[in-house]
Formats: sequence, structure tokens, C-alpha cells
Amino acid sequence: MSFFKVENLSVWFGGLAAIDGVSFEVEPGQVFAVIGPNGAGKTTLFNCINGIYKPGKGEIFFKGNEIVGLKPDAVARMGIARTFQNIELFDHMTTMENLMLGRHIHMKTGLLRGAFLWGKRSFAGREEMVHREKVESIIDLLELQSVRNKFVGALPYGTQKLIELGRALALEPELLLLDEPCAGMNAEEKQDMIFWIKDIQDELGITVLLIEHDMKMVMDISDQVLAINFGRPITQGTPQEVQQHPEVLAAYLGEDA
Ligand SMILES: Nc1ncnc2c1ncn2[C@@H]1O[C@H](COP(=O)(O)OP(=O)(O)OP(=O)(O)O)[C@@H](O)[C@H]1O
Ligand SMILES: [Mg+2]
Repeated sequence: MSFFKVENLSVWFGGLAAIDGVSFEVEPGQVFAVIGPNGAGKTTLFNCINGIYKPGKGEIFFKGNEIVGLKPDAVARMGIARTFQNIELFDHMTTMENLMLGRHIHMKTGLLRGAFLWGKRSFAGREEMVHREKVESIIDLLELQSVRNKFVGALPYGTQKLIELGRALALEPELLLLDEPCAGMNAEEKQDMIFWIKDIQDELGITVLLIEHDMKMVMDISDQVLAINFGRPITQGTPQEVQQHPEVLAAYLGEDA
């Protein structure tokens, strides 16, 4: 049984194939990168995995279970978390509160009571403590202490990307989908993000499925790379193998990667 497997996936939007016969397998503990030019179908692939889109054809298996047809919440409960290409955080809530929301699938007492009845001597209050401890450990891991109580909307872009990563981690996933975690970051922020992703792989043992345009970053951290274009697979292999493929070279030639 494979850890994660996509089989012959196809997605059509009004007759146009955004994904066209994509298959791949991810081993546990890997960082597996999906690369391809703008519009190649990378985000659509993630949207199929986490249940936002239902593919027209094909199957997706997570630890042997078919997940096509499950709603995003059900996919999250199975242990698959994601970040978004465009940050999706609650601007008027603090870092801590955003991270707490990342734990909602674990909250027996419900999202609102669980998140806001802090300090009550109730079951909700005790449960709350456990969630807070988990979130504090993520704040420590990603060194977000200084922004713990700050409103997310006022924080720098790179910090927000990191908080979104934290929110995904708060779900305690086994598989983490990262959609361009370094997009829009400066060189230093990118380098930091590479360290965090390596830490997540090594220390937390989380398997990472990564969409990234920056070829240097892909080369640095990926175990396997799948290149797609116009929704179709071009090649898959180690970063070194994929980088030498003529179509990949052509697609990335001239970029600053
Ligand atoms: N909801 C939708 N309705 C119609 N077309 C869509 C929808 N979502 C994506 N598409 C189309 O599917 C194709 C793949 O888009 P997708 O966002 O998956 O590409 P991508 O590889 O993530 O690109 P980028 O690198 O720019 O993020 C594009 O042609 C896009 O316009
Ligand atoms: Mg995209």
C-alpha cells in the first residue's frame, strides 16, 4: 500500500483539460515537488487532493483510502493539511487565534466555544489548554513568539506566509500540501522557509507535497520532482534528472531560478 497515490487524474473546465492524465506516488517522509509553468494545473491538482474540486476522472489514495469525493473538512480529518498560493488567514485575528483555528478538526467542543472560552473551568476549558500547548509548540518551532498576539493583517508578507504554514501544522497533518510557500519572498525569507520545510520533514516526520517555481529551492529540498505542463506530465525523477529534461530546461530558461 502506498502512502499517497494519484492515478490517471483529469480535470476539465468547460471542455479544457486543466489536468490531463496525471499519476504519481509519494513515499512517506519525502519532500515531493510539483513544478510547471503558470497555468500548468498545479493548484488545480491541490484543489482535487483537498476536496475543493472533484476531478472528472481518476483516483487519489491516501494510506490506501480513496479520497476523491470527500469534502475538504473530511480530507483534513484524514491528516492532509495545506497552505494557499494566496494567503488565507483571518487578518483581524492574532497569530495565536489563527493557529488555534487550524486545530478545529480536533476540537470536540466546537470551533467557537473551543476557540474563545479560554480559562473556563469546564471541559471546554481543559481541552482548550491542550490545544494552546500544541499551538505554543508550533509558535516555538517557527519562532513566531514576537508576533503571537499581533493581528495578522498588519504583519509583513513573509511572516504571514510563515503563520499560514503554522496554521497548517496545527492540524497535525501526516501530509502537508504547500502551494508556493516562497512566492513573493525575499532571498532571506526564502532561505528561512527552506529551513522550516526541512525541519518539518526531519523533526516532525511530515511528508510534504510542494508546488514551487524557484528551481534552486526545488533542487535544494526535494527528493522527487514531477514536472507538468498544460496539465500533462512531462517527466518525474530526482531534481537532477528532472532539471536536465529538455522541456523543463525550455520552460525555465531565462528565469532567475
Ligand atoms: N475554477 C476554475 N474555473 C475555470 N478554469 C480554471 C479554474 N481553476 C483553474 N482553471 C484553469 O486551469 C488551468 C490551471 O490552473 P492552475 O491554477 O491549476 O495553474 P497553476 O499551475 O497553479 O498556475 P500558477 O503557477 O500560475 O499558480 C488554468 O488554465 C486556469 O485558468
Ligand atoms: Mg497555482
